[in-house]
Amino acid sequence: MNDFERVLIAGTGPTSLQLAVMVKDRPGSVVAIAGRKSVRSDGFFLAFRESDRKVRVDVQNDKNRGAAGECVVDELFQGFETVAGEWRMLVLAVTADAYTHVLRQLDDRVLARVRCVVLVSPTFGSNSLVRNFLTSQGLNAEVISFSSYLGDTRWPEGVPADRVLTAAVKKRLYIGSSRGQSANLDLLCEMHHRLGVAMEVVDDPVEAETRNISLYVHPALFMNDIALNAVFFETEPVKYVYKLVPEGPVAPSLVHEMVAQWKELTEICRQMGVPGVNLLRFMVDDSYPVREESISRRDVERFERLPSIHQEYLVYVRYASLLVDPFSEPDADGRYFDFSAIPIRRVFVDGAGRWEVPRMPKEDYYRTKVIQGVARHMGVACPTIDTLIARYEHALEDAGRAHTDRPLSDAFVVRDFREDVAMICDEIGKARGDRRADMGRPTT
Ligand SMILES: NC(=O)c1ccc[n+]([C@@H]2O[C@H](COP(=O)([O-])OP(=O)(O)OC[C@H]3O[C@@H](n4cnc5c(N)ncnc54)[C@H](OP(=O)(O)O)[C@@H]3O)[C@@H](O)[C@H]2O)c1
Repeated sequence: MNDFERVLIAGTGPTSLQLAVMVKDRPGSVVAIAGRKSVRSDGFFLAFRESDRKVRVDVQNDKNRGAAGECVVDELFQGFETVAGEWRMLVLAVTADAYTHVLRQLDDRVLARVRCVVLVSPTFGSNSLVRNFLTSQGLNAEVISFSSYLGDTRWPEGVPADRVLTAAVKKRLYIGSSRGQSANLDLLCEMHHRLGVAMEVVDDPVEAETRNISLYVHPALFMNDIALNAVFFETEPVKYVYKLVPEGPVAPSLVHEMVAQWKELTEICRQMGVPGVNLLRFMVDDSYPVREESISRRDVERFERLPSIHQEYLVYVRYASLLVDPFSEPDADGRYFDFSAIPIRRVFVDGAGRWEVPRMPKEDYYRTKVIQGVARHMGVACPTIDTLIARYEHALEDAGRAHTDRPLSDAFVVRDFREDVAMICDEIGKARGDRRADMGRPTT
């Protein structure tokens, strides 16, 4: 039996449905979905029961039709502790800060039979975290990290249902396995190729985890006064993530922090022996292209060697050049598609009646704290990351004092994520020890 024949997907968000349809496309695959019991997941399980576990993926753009399809999910588990049976592949489609919570709740006998864990939307250090947890349980499953989820998948009506809409599919993804090359890695690549995604296999899973643009741009875009006010305090006017001041937060000072934070993360990667990212090339080639008149190929290629002020200038030009989609068709008035009109989401009341922080910047807080923890462990100075986190935590505390009319979710608590950071650093320490031992070994 190959590991794709029995796949358990953990998570009840829209990505789980897209992944279920992809896996079930392989003849003979049995797929289950498991989620925690929560007010939000109640709607998910209800929708599944009403559709007899039949789910459907629609696509917004015909060029992504490879992602569309239907399937019947074989089993559902409401509560991770209720999972039973043999599941050889465990796909974690929950947020990266919940990986160990999910693993801890699975029955030991279920976990012991898992041979491969796939991290759909991990962050820097997630593969180390999961490996460290498995080793502590005496287990040795393969752990595979994607650079990010394959695209943009949503509930069409905004609430859990038996169908999802995949609105976009990424051009390229990076993927790495704790085993180097493996049959599971090849099959995951093949599955994504069918959707038109170019897959780049990297040697080390942490390298895939660092090929995620959010790591480099979200902290600066969200942990600034304009965005924090928009998230936690102001009700109007709407502010937009990617617009220039005053419509959004993008300003030379924000770009300065973005470039400085990229350098700090690059230094951590360097110390770990992981190749860094050319930030501008990553923005232009992997995210959204700009016109050659805006940023030349020469500037993209030499970006890492330019002085900071020139780098900041180019990143500012990049954001300014994408205020509109530079490749859209202009209307009769010469107006191009308003590409940057992505509103900054405000804190909201969740299904359980608590104030909750939206995914951005909630997930970015966890990710940035992990990077800060790893930097401390490795003795790498990260003054910009420290400033961004201090600003965010200050806003969290003020928001906690301002929103007293309802209970607050955990996202309002200033946290150190000490346990996850310690596990990640332990694993990084082992890898560095191995590398040093390899370097000391005589070559033949
Ligand atoms: N959807 C996309 O297009 C997209 C794009 C890029 C990246 N991603 C990333 O992919 C991941 C999954 O996204 P999604 O849109 O499918 O899901 P989602 O709506 O964000 O839901 C994530 C799932 O994680 C569960 N979860 C959260 N915290 C948990 C915890 N502490 N313990 C156990 N379970 C927990 C949620 O349960 P509850 O419902 O009970 O909270 C839910 O089942 C996220 O990290 C997301 O940022 C998604």
